Formats: sequence, C-alpha cells, structure tokens
Amino acid sequence: MSFKAIFALVSLAVAASAAPPRQVECSAGRVVSNAACCQWFDVLDDIQENLFDGSECGEDAHESLRLTFHDAIGFSPMLFREGKFGGGGADGSIMAFAQIETAFHANIGVDEIVEEQRPFALKHQVSFGDFIQFAGAVGVSNCAGGPRLQFLAGRSNISQPSPDLLVPEPSDLTDTIFARMGDAGFSPNEIVDLLASHSVAAQDKVDPTIPGTPFDSTPSSFDAQFFVETLLKGVLFPGNGSNVGEVLSPLKGEFRLFSDNEIARDPRTACEWQSFITDHDSMVTKFETVMVKLATLGHNPLDLIDCSEVIPVPKAVTLPPAILPAGKSLGDIQAACAATPFPRLGTAPGPATTIAPVPPA
Ligand code: HEM
Ligand SMILES: *[C@@H]1O[C@H](CO)[C@@H](O)[C@H](O)[C@H]1NC(C)=O
Ligand SMILES: *[C@@H]1O[C@H](CO)[C@@H](O)[C@H](O)[C@H]1NC(C)=O
Repeated sequence: MSFKAIFALVSLAVAASAAPPRQVECSAGRVVSNAACCQWFDVLDDIQENLFDGSECGEDAHESLRLTFHDAIGFSPMLFREGKFGGGGADGSIMAFAQIETAFHANIGVDEIVEEQRPFALKHQVSFGDFIQFAGAVGVSNCAGGPRLQFLAGRSNISQPSPDLLVPEPSDLTDTIFARMGDAGFSPNEIVDLLASHSVAAQDKVDPTIPGTPFDSTPSSFDAQFFVETLLKGVLFPGNGSNVGEVLSPLKGEFRLFSDNEIARDPRTACEWQSFITDHDSMVTKFETVMVKLATLGHNPLDLIDCSEVIPVPKAVTLPPAILPAGKSLGDIQAACAATPFPRLGTAPGPATTIAPVPPA
C-alpha cells in the first residue's frame, strides 16, 4: 500500500470516529450531545407548563423575550474604554440585582417577569444569565412562525449590577438608539432584525391605562404584520392620549412606539424594515442570527456549551402573507425605502376592526 493510500485510510478512520457527535441519553429518552444539556429538558418541561401556561405565546412568553434584551444590553465597551465598569451583558444581573436594575426608567415593567422567572431558576439551580436567555428562546418558539434560537449554557452566576442608561428608551431619537446599540456591537440593520421581536409584543407601561395593547394585529404570530402596520399613517391614540414614547397608531386597540415609528422611516433602516414584509424566512433567519450575538454579549461563546437541541422546533405553520388591515389601502402606507418600491399586498375584507388586548397571564 502506498503512503498515500495509508494516509487516506487513516483520514477516513479519523473522520469516521469524529463525525457522529457524542450521544447522551437524558430522561424520557431524549438525546443530546453533551450531558450538561440534560437538565435543560427538565427546565423546559417545567416552564412550558408552569410559566407559559401550556406552551403559549402569551404575555409571559412576550415578557421573557423582552427580558433577554434588557439583561443583555447592559454592556458598554465605551464605558470600559473610559475606565468604568460597563456591565456584564447577558449575565443575569437584572435578576440578581433586580432591586437596582428594575428601578431604571427603561426597565419599567420588567420586575414582573423577573420575579415570575426567579423561582424556576432557583429550583433548577441554573444561573440567572442562562435562565433568562433560555426562557426567552423557549417562549418565542411557542409563537406561530417563530424562530428556533441558539441556546448556549454555562454563564457564570456571579455578576455586578449594570450601570443605568444602557437600555434604549422608546422616546429616544434614532441617532441615540443607533449609537447605544452600535456601542454594544449592533449595526442599524441589526436593530431592525432585533425588532422582529416586536411582532409578538404589547405594552403595559407606556400608557398604563391600557395594559396589553399590542404593537400589531397578530401579537401571538412572529409574522410580518408588525413591519406593515408600523408603516401605516398614524391616526389615533388607542388610550387616553399621547404619552412619552408613544405616537399615533393606525388602528383602534393598537399601540405604536415613537422609536419603532422612527426606525421604520429612517433612510438607514427603512429598506431592511420593508424587506421583511414579503420575506418571512429572512425575518426569522436574521432574527436567529442577531440573537446569537445578543444572548452572548459579555461572554466568549467558546466558553459555553451548545444546548440548542433542547429548544423546541416551532410548529410548522403556514402563515398567511402580510396584508393591509381592513379599511386601509396602499395610500395609507408611508413607504420610506428609496431603493425598492413598496410591495403589492392584499387587503383584509370587511370594515375596520379593533385589535384585542393581549390577556394578562
Ligand atoms: C430599539 C430598542 C428598543 C426599544 C426602545 C424598545 C421599547 C419597548 C417598549 C417601550 C416596550 C413596551 C413595554 C411596556 O410598556 O410594557 C417594549 C416591549 C417589548 N419589547 Fe422592546 N424595545 C426595543 C428593543 C427590543 C429588543 C431588541 C427586543 C428583543 C430581542 C424587544 C422585545 C420586546 C418584547 C417581546 C416586548 C413585549 C413585551 C410584552 O408584551 O409584555 N425589544 N419594547
Ligand atoms: C445565583 O445567585 C443568586 C444570588 O444572586 C443565588 O440566590 C442563587 O442561588 C444562585 N444560583 C446558583 C445556581 O448558584
Ligand atoms: C384620561 O384622562 C382624563 C383627563 O386627563 C382623566 O380625567 C381620566 O381619568 C383618564 N382616564 C383614564 C382611564 O386614565
């Protein structure tokens, strides 16, 4: 046998032994590639039943997704460069130091989900940082058309309180939001990708008189209605008039944030925004990609263990194409992408409807 042939055989043998990932059997016959991931199946079963009320994409799933952001974005390389503590990113500090961080103005309302989640993290003895990212990933997997997010485990449970003023406010100008998010490593288009999260969202605290008011007509679907409806001309306030961080919305019962309104129309982000209206696959893929970055802010991903296998595969559903709500026409759209014409969309039949609030969990 020639040296070349022996070399080829040896390479084959190495490839064969390296190729199939190690398989570890967890309880209930579920299989993972790293034994450290098994405990997350127990967390999964518990939170699907007892936090998300039977795998729903309801208020607790929405709030859990929001919390992934409010924990992680407490991370500022700029502060570190100035010789200050810039926060630990996705480190669970918002739960460990809830007294401090949930009192920050931009974190208004997150105390509720922090306190709902805490007993689960304590019971399963997982770090607060891991738990917050895990719960957000599981919660959004319950939403129709939702993403399957990566989940890496192994964040330290030791953290320090995040400095204040790192979480964007809905009343911030786009320049302010782009600068803050840029500091944390996100481009303007990646902010749009992150805002796909607002397709499964409602507000409680910007106008506290109307809790549960959704940002689009389909708050339990991770669909593109949010990207259409934010481009409609605003005509009304769903509640008791204008609040800080709120602008006119197009539909009764729907809420629009000032920041979403601005980012949808900013020349730097309008084309990314509009592109999702006819491309749900790209909306999901880009959200999955940008969430990899968000969930590991402040960490070296190589230090963590990939337990993505535990995250449920979202149910296969065919979402209807994005549509103009009943009573609206293309003339109500404030298209803002100079490069691409606004897509042709169907219009929902019938008289204008009122969007129902998201019921409290
Ligand atoms: C540009 C930055 C952002 C701003 C200014 C912003 C602002 C807000 C505001 C004001 C609310 C309503 C809170 C309330 O009154 O209850 C909200 C809700 C929400 N946000 Fe954001 N957000 C931003 C980015 C994000 C990101 C990056 C995510 C996740 C990846 C996210 C996920 C959510 C979700 C899921 C809700 C709904 C919570 C619920 O229904 O209870 N947001 N956001
Ligand atoms: C994480 O830290 C909190 C205190 O902030 C503590 O109560 C909890 O038991 C810790 N969890 C683990 C798994 O060490
Ligand atoms: C709405 O605003 C009016 C006037 O400011 C006030 O009298 C009323 O109580 C408010 N309603 C609610 C539901 O907050």
